[in-house]
Amino acid sequence: MNIVFEKESQRFFINTKNTTYIIEIVKNEFLAHLYWGKKIENYFGSNKIMFRDRGFSPNIFKEDRTFSLDTLPQEYPQYGNGDFRPCAYHIIDKDNNTFSDLRYISFEILKEKPKLNGLPSSHGEKIETLVLTLLDEILGLEVKLYYSVFYDSDVIVRRTSFKALKDEIILDRMLSANVDFRTDNFDLLSLYGAHNNDRNIDRRPLTSGTYVLESTRGASSMHQSPFIVLIDKEGTENYGDVYAMQFIYSGSFYSAVHVDQYRNVRMQMGLQPFDNNWILAKGETFDTPEVVLAYSNSGLTGLSNQLHHFVRNHIIKEKWKNKARPILINNWEATYFNFTEEKLLALAKEAKEIGIELFVLDDGWFKNRNSDTSSLGDWEVDRNKLPNGIDGLADKIHSMGLKFGIWFEPEMINEDSELYRSHPEYTIQIKNRNLIYGRGQFVLDLSNKEVCNFIIESISKILDSQKIDYVKWDMNRHITNAGSLFLNSKNQRECTHRYMLGLYYIVETLVEKYPDILFESCSSGGGRFDLGLLCYMPQTWASDNTDAICRSKIQYATSLMYPSLVVGSHVSVCPNHQVGRITPLETRFNIALCGNLGYELDLTLLSNEEKSEIKNQIKFYKKVRDIVQFGDYYRLLNPFTTNEYAVNFVSKNKEEIIVVYLKVLSEPAAPFHILKLKGLDENSLYVDTVTNNVYSGAELMYAGLSLENVKQDFYSKKWYFKKFN
Ligand code: GLA
Repeated sequence: MNIVFEKESQRFFINTKNTTYIIEIVKNEFLAHLYWGKKIENYFGSNKIMFRDRGFSPNIFKEDRTFSLDTLPQEYPQYGNGDFRPCAYHIIDKDNNTFSDLRYISFEILKEKPKLNGLPSSHGEKIETLVLTLLDEILGLEVKLYYSVFYDSDVIVRRTSFKALKDEIILDRMLSANVDFRTDNFDLLSLYGAHNNDRNIDRRPLTSGTYVLESTRGASSMHQSPFIVLIDKEGTENYGDVYAMQFIYSGSFYSAVHVDQYRNVRMQMGLQPFDNNWILAKGETFDTPEVVLAYSNSGLTGLSNQLHHFVRNHIIKEKWKNKARPILINNWEATYFNFTEEKLLALAKEAKEIGIELFVLDDGWFKNRNSDTSSLGDWEVDRNKLPNGIDGLADKIHSMGLKFGIWFEPEMINEDSELYRSHPEYTIQIKNRNLIYGRGQFVLDLSNKEVCNFIIESISKILDSQKIDYVKWDMNRHITNAGSLFLNSKNQRECTHRYMLGLYYIVETLVEKYPDILFESCSSGGGRFDLGLLCYMPQTWASDNTDAICRSKIQYATSLMYPSLVVGSHVSVCPNHQVGRITPLETRFNIALCGNLGYELDLTLLSNEEKSEIKNQIKFYKKVRDIVQFGDYYRLLNPFTTNEYAVNFVSKNKEEIIVVYLKVLSEPAAPFHILKLKGLDENSLYVDTVTNNVYSGAELMYAGLSLENVKQDFYSKKWYFKKFN
C-alpha cells in the first residue's frame, strides 16, 4: 500500500520508494500540506503546522484568529476567502463573482490510475492513485485532486478535475498542481532559450515576490521549458534537496514560485491562465493535464536519474522503451530544398557504405515546395523532384538496405498553397484581422475537428504505402491571432487549449494507426521538447543548432530531464551552418554520440579520410549504442560554468563505461585536470579498451582520470572501459 489514510491523525501518506508526501485534513474541511521529502516510515507530527494570529491574514472562523488560509500551507489554494498568495484556480460564476470556497468532502484510494482521455498521460501497471474530492456547495463546483504514485521512479503525478454541478462556470485559472513549503531555503532553477539556443540553465536565489516561468506561445517552447526546480541553496549536482515540477503538456503553460510574507514558498504549475479560459457547462468536467512531481535528496544527479527512469518507463510507449534507435542521415543541412531523386540516392548510397541505417528525407519533397514560402498543407509529392514518387524513392532506398523516413509539418499552412486557396477558414485567425506571419506561414485551426481529420487523411495517404519507417513531425512557428472561425464567440478563449486537444487527437490516431513507424517530434529543434509529445513520439530533435560546442550545453541541460534515448543529436558540416564554427570531426562525433546519433551533411562531398573516419565512428557507436541509449547517465563537468564538458554513461550491469570529455578553448598555463567518473562498481576492475590499462572502479571514481594538456581549441576525447575479468 503506497497510499495510506490514518484516521486518528486525519493524514494521508503517499509513499514512493524513497520519498514521502503527507497531507492533513485540518478542521475537517481544509487540505493542508504537511511534508514532501525523503521517506519517513514512522511519522507522528514532529513538524506540525503552527498557528498564530497574524495581522492582515483574514479568518474564516470568528472565534479562531489563528486560523487563516493566508498562512496555511495548502494543497490547492483558492481565491477569495483569505489567501492572498497566488491561487491554484480561479472561476467566474453566472453573477460575475469570482469567489469560491472549496471544502474537503471525501477521498478514494484507487488501485489504478484512471484514464485521462484526450490528453497525454503517464502510464504504468498498478499505479495507485489518491483522489481527494472538494466541494463548493453554493457555487456547485466539485474539484478532484489526483495523486498517482510511480513508486520505482520516486515520482508523484498530479492533476485536477473540475465539474460544474449547478450552473455554467468559467474556469479562468486551472492549475494542475500546487505545493507549499515552509521554508525559502531554495534557489530556483529553470531552462530558458531561443531558436538555435535551446535550453540554457538558469539558477537564481529566491528573494521575495513571484517568479513566473511560462509560455504564451501556444507551444511549450524552447524559450522556457515546462520544468522548474527548487534546489537547496547549498545544493549541487550531487548533494541537497531538490524538488521538480514538469508538465505533461505541449502548449502554453504557467509555472510560478512565490515567496510570501513569512518567507514560505509556493510552487505551482499548469495551463497558462493568461488569455485562456474554459466555459464549463452544467454537468461537464474539465481535466487539467498532468504535472510530474519529483523529489531527490541527492542533488541534480538524483533528480535526473529519477526523471530518466520515469520517462523511459512511464512516458514513452512500451514498444519503444527498449528499442535501440537507428543511426540516420538527414538531407536537410546537406541539400536544403535543392535536391533531385538522383542526389538523394547518391547521398543514401554513401550513407549505406559507411554504416548508416535510416535515410530521412526532410522538407521540400511536396508540390512546389522550393523554399519555405509555399505549399505547407499540400501533402502531395513533387514529381519534378521525385518522378517516381515517395514510393519509388522509398523502394530504392529500401533496396539499398536502409530504412526510409520522411518529414512533415502537418499543423501548418502557407498562404501560397492549394489548401489555403480552397480553405482559408482552416487557419487560426480572428475575423477581420490581418494574419501574422511566422516563417511565412500560418497555423491550422486544430480546434476544428474537420481540420484534424483533414490532416489525418492527408498524412495517412502517404503513410498507407507501408514504405515509411520513420516520421519527423515538425512545427515551426507559434500561435498568433489566437481565435477560431469554427468556435462560438463565447468559446474563443478556449482556442489554444482546444488546439492542443486537436493535436493530441491527431497524433494519437496516427501513432495508433501506424504503430511500427518511429515518430520524432521537432519544432525548429527543441521548441516542443516536452513530456506531452513524448507520450506519443518517443524521440525529439533537440535543437536546430548542430554546432558541437553549443550542443554540449544544450544536451547537458536537456539531460536534467530526459534520457539520451529520446534526444536526437547529429554530426554536421564545418563551418557550422548556425554559428560558423570549425570544430574537429572527432569532437562533433564525441558530442553527438551522447544522444541518439545521426548525420546531417552532404556525405558525397567528403574526402576519403573523412568518410573512413565517419565509418569508424559509426562502428564505434553501434558497439556502445546500448550503453548510451539504455545505460545510466552522469554529468561530470558543467559547460555552463566551466570551459569543459564531461559526462559518463554506465551500462545497466555496470560492466561498460563510456566517458566523453570536451575542452572548449585551449588555455595558457593550463593545470593538469583530473576527471572523476561516477556510477561505476567500486570493486570491479575496468580496462581501457584503447590502451589496455586496467583501473579499479574506486580509483576511476575517487582518484579520477588524468587529462592531457592539449594545445588545441575544441579538443575532445572519449574512453570506453570494459569490466576486466
Ligand atoms: C525546422 C527543423 C529542421 C528542418 C527544417 C525544414 O527548422 O527543425 O530540422 O526540418 O525545419 O524546413
